[in-house]
Formats: sequence, structure tokens, C-alpha cells
Amino acid sequence: MDYEILLKKAFEGRSRAYAPYSNFYVGAAVVMEDGSIYTGCNIENASYGATNCAERTAIFKAISERHTSIKAIAIVGVENDYTYPCGICRQVIAEFAAADIQIILGKNKKEYIVKTLEEILPGAFTKKDLGK
Ligand code: THU
Repeated sequence: MDYEILLKKAFEGRSRAYAPYSNFYVGAAVVMEDGSIYTGCNIENASYGATNCAERTAIFKAISERHTSIKAIAIVGVENDYTYPCGICRQVIAEFAAADIQIILGKNKKEYIVKTLEEILPGAFTKKDLGK
């Protein structure tokens, strides 16, 4: 997977962020096992708890189209720093991805770091714990 293409898509997602309360704009792009790509942005709400993160927006778009296996996800937030996925998003990634998937954290369109899910969510509670 070309990380820079996925990062570009994540920035496209970020351009559509709805974040009038935090003014913290986040974008994500997820590539599924079949090669399809879905973008997402954070969508805030006056009732703050109803906010949806960029990563979950992208993942839920993919899942709702029956693309259920994540190959990699790129995330971009604040300019010139790395934005890591929140705990809830890490858990949602874990539901649909293998522990060794690549999570690309973009600082800008050229600079990024790559982490695996296992690195940022060690010992994840998953369907295997439920015998599924
Ligand atoms: N946010 C995301 O979209 N993804 C994350 O993983 C971290 C947080 C959003 C939620 C909220 O709209 C804003 O960033 C500030 O928390």
C-alpha cells in the first residue's frame, strides 16, 4: 500500500471535518482487504458525547458497505504533529483488523510514522475472548 496515497485521502477526509466546538480537525482513510478506500472526518455535536471520531466515520462507512477487513488506516489531525487514535477508535479498529495492521499517523503529506495495532493496543479485548 502506498502510504502517501492513503495520507492524501486522509487529508481529503479532514477537509470535511465538522468540528465547530473543538476546532480540532481530524481525517482518516481506511483501506480494506479488497483495496477499497473509505475516508472519514470527525463529526461533532452540541451534545458533546454524540461526537463521532474520524476513524470511526471511515470504518463505519466501510463496514456498512460490507467491507469488513481493514488492511491499513491513515490518520491526520493537527498540522505538524501526530494524532493517535483515541481508545474507543483503537477498540473499533481491533474489531475489524488483525493485530499487525499498519496505522499510519501523518504529520503532513510527506512525513508519517507507522505503528501496528498491537503496539498501540496491546492485549486487546476482542471476539476471541468471547470464543468467537
Ligand atoms: N478525534 C478524532 O476524530 N479522532 C481521534 O482519535 C481523537 C479525537 C476528534 C473528536 C473531537 O471531534 C476532536 O477530535 C477533539 O477531541
